[in-house]
Amino acid sequence: MSTALEGVRILDLGHVQAAPTATQLLAWMGADVIKVEMPGRGDITRGQLRDVKGADSLYFTMLNSNKRSITINLKSPGGKKILEELARRCDVVVENFGPGVLDRQGFTWARFQELNPRIIYASIKGFGPGRYADFKAYENVAQCMGGAASTTGWDDGPPTVTGAQIGDSGTGVHLVSGILAALFQRERTGKGQRVEVAMTDSVLNLSRVKMRDQQRIMKGPLPEYPNKEFGDSVPRAGNASGGGQPGSALRCAPGGPNDYVYVIIQPPSWAPLMKIVGREELIDDPHYATPEARLSHIPECFSIIEQWTMSKTKFEVMDALNPVDVPCGPILSMKDIFEDRELYERGLLTELDHPTRGRYVQVGMPIKLSDSPADIKRSPLLGEHTDEVLSWLGYGDGDVKKLHDDGAV
Ligand SMILES: CC(C)(COP(=O)(O)OP(=O)(O)OC[C@H]1O[C@@H](n2cnc3c(N)ncnc32)[C@H](O)[C@@H]1OP(=O)(O)O)[C@@H](O)C(=O)NCCC(=O)NCCS
Repeated sequence: MSTALEGVRILDLGHVQAAPTATQLLAWMGADVIKVEMPGRGDITRGQLRDVKGADSLYFTMLNSNKRSITINLKSPGGKKILEELARRCDVVVENFGPGVLDRQGFTWARFQELNPRIIYASIKGFGPGRYADFKAYENVAQCMGGAASTTGWDDGPPTVTGAQIGDSGTGVHLVSGILAALFQRERTGKGQRVEVAMTDSVLNLSRVKMRDQQRIMKGPLPEYPNKEFGDSVPRAGNASGGGQPGSALRCAPGGPNDYVYVIIQPPSWAPLMKIVGREELIDDPHYATPEARLSHIPECFSIIEQWTMSKTKFEVMDALNPVDVPCGPILSMKDIFEDRELYERGLLTELDHPTRGRYVQVGMPIKLSDSPADIKRSPLLGEHTDEVLSWLGYGDGDVKKLHDDGAV
């Protein structure tokens, strides 16, 4: 079966999480991803948070499946020449080095265009043009400066970063959409283009509803927030819903750290909810009957529902509320998810064998293409495909040996 990106070649200069997320998705759509790594060390994540001595970490393996690995010393003349040859033959170059790193090695956007006018040059940096442009960034820096952290957590607590990697993986997903659009435009123009995504910009894009609330708060308090007092910027919302429908995480039995269920009160849900919790008299009570009436005492509404959820497990609540069309979700721990066999059956979690670390679990492709199903394969060992790629570029055995001896690969 053919794949969506069959024949598309990606020169992957990505490292850590942001760019590797993008190139892994492209690989799962069928692109041939050639990951360039520093000889002897590779992507720094290979050795970070190791759980098996001497083997690639899960951090690396879970972000680099379906790629080929070639080691190239980008600071050596031989290495630069190989990179040039790869740029001539690839469709897309992806990188997320610190600002100016590639330029310092002579690989500017102008140079890539000279080497290959069809190439798409896709970069991730912490910040867009402006006063922060030269600064490095990691996930939580982006969450803090993109508006997510100040709006996450509890009113009386510190700003809080979220567990979902919106700064790194979120930016990678944004980059993929830019790359695919550029590939599509190239079909018509024959020309490549530059694709740039700043991590802080991606986080702000994902925090868009908070910018909505910033504009609303300038006109008065936000009724759907649980906060008692409001300043002049969007407060931390606890577990309040970010959307137009009120929601809250409610305690369940037996009272463990993840024994909560998130319940949303859609307008048509009020009556069935009140029936289930045994408070039918509130269905037509003018203080509760309409969404507008409920808006001024949302915490009280959830406290009424919580008196009922506390006598049930989170799964019992889900079983009771879904049949009456009340949107809800039990808080699942990572262990709950890891042990959910249905996720393995549908391929979102998949077990892969790795030659040095043994079996591990990979989060698979969340985007399902009916004519291009992802075939998830393990991540490469460091430099596993160096000689194979060099031979494809036309280097003979003697040349390859010399490149190794010279430390260029
Ligand atoms: C993530 C980040 C902070 C890491 O910083 P870092 O570990 O210092 O890495 P850098 O990207 O700055 O590169 C460090 C050096 O390694 C060198 N290097 C990397 N790969 C190399 C290779 N294959 N051969 C030779 N040198 C290599 C670079 O040339 C650079 O050297 P220089 O500073 O002497 O020019 C930084 O890359 C960054 O800000 N990236 C953009 C934002 C981003 O993507 N952040 C999130 C990552 S998930």
